[in-house]
Amino acid sequence: MEITIIQNLNLSYIRTFALRCAVDLDITGRIQAYGRPMPLNELARSIPIPREKESMLGRLMTLLVNQGIFAQSEAGYQLTTASQLILTEGSNMGANVRFTTYAEVIKIWSRLSEVFKESGEQTLLEKVFDGKKFWEFTKEKPEYGKLFDDAMASLSNALMRGLIASYPHIFDGLNNLVDVGGGTGTAVKFIAEAFPKLRCTLFDLPHVIAKALKSESFDVVEGDMFEKIPPADAIFLKNILHDWNDEDCIRILKRSKETIESNNNGGKVIVVDIIMDFESNDPKATETTLLIDIFMMDLLGSKERSKQEWHDIIIRAGYSDYKIYPVQLGVNSVIELYL
Ligand SMILES: C[S@@+](CC[C@H](N)C(=O)[O-])C[C@H]1O[C@@H](n2cnc3c(N)ncnc32)[C@H](O)[C@@H]1O
Repeated sequence: MEITIIQNLNLSYIRTFALRCAVDLDITGRIQAYGRPMPLNELARSIPIPREKESMLGRLMTLLVNQGIFAQSEAGYQLTTASQLILTEGSNMGANVRFTTYAEVIKIWSRLSEVFKESGEQTLLEKVFDGKKFWEFTKEKPEYGKLFDDAMASLSNALMRGLIASYPHIFDGLNNLVDVGGGTGTAVKFIAEAFPKLRCTLFDLPHVIAKALKSESFDVVEGDMFEKIPPADAIFLKNILHDWNDEDCIRILKRSKETIESNNNGGKVIVVDIIMDFESNDPKATETTLLIDIFMMDLLGSKERSKQEWHDIIIRAGYSDYKIYPVQLGVNSVIELYL
């Protein structure tokens, strides 16, 4: 059995690139457009691929069926709830696949061992790309920056509807909300459209705001969250704090608290982020958070946090109390922070 563990882990990247191949060939879109179970020969014809490659496509599909990406019956292939998320009109998680498999960046992983041999805080990304930090990298490489923005938007598409449906009361009684580091605006658009009386603002760095969604349902402000955040009674921080080390998180949380206090109307911070749980009864979720933790460590020099680690930064930033909502949204949780 041990030999299987090593071989399986060793070849895990094949899973990654089989999924990437399905995205590149738009297999989900083709099966969706077919409208009923799609036989292999029809799938091959729609791409189109040469006849002699049809059996190769069949083998790729067998792996993807095994991984739960597609389902197969005698009549042909069908989408699963997982592959529905890859559809552009679903959540476009194909954008997420393209971001994490971006050729120029994915090569850094073959040098992972090197970061352990040197002292200092340089991330693997900085080491391979002459000291360039992740946020400089996304700014200077527009193609990668766009993939990142689209990837974040796809995750928001996949979970914002569930967040608003599960926790509408979180937004009760609020007058205005700023989505700090809100990317191109997918999450804030969901909030603004669900709660039309809540005045919403998207806030991010200038080069990201330049690419933001155009919508009348929310305002747009550019700036640096370490310097100034537009006043509001609610600050929304979705997948922001896991981008930063503890000291930077405390700076962001303190800045958010000052902003709410300056508004003189009470209020709260709403965090959507991962809470590491090693006792989870969902091993896939635990494994996924561990993978994201290593991704954050090596691209951004940041980390995912356990309940205790969240407690420590929240209290150190001066908040009086907080509440973690028990239902998970994918691997994300919601934490409300009270002044
Ligand atoms: C991981 S993304 C999260 C995007 C969005 N909140 C979401 O969940 O889709 C982090 C965001 O923080 C923004 N960001 C990074 N540094 C920032 C800063 N100093 N001030 C404002 N936004 C910043 C990035 O441009 C990016 O859009």
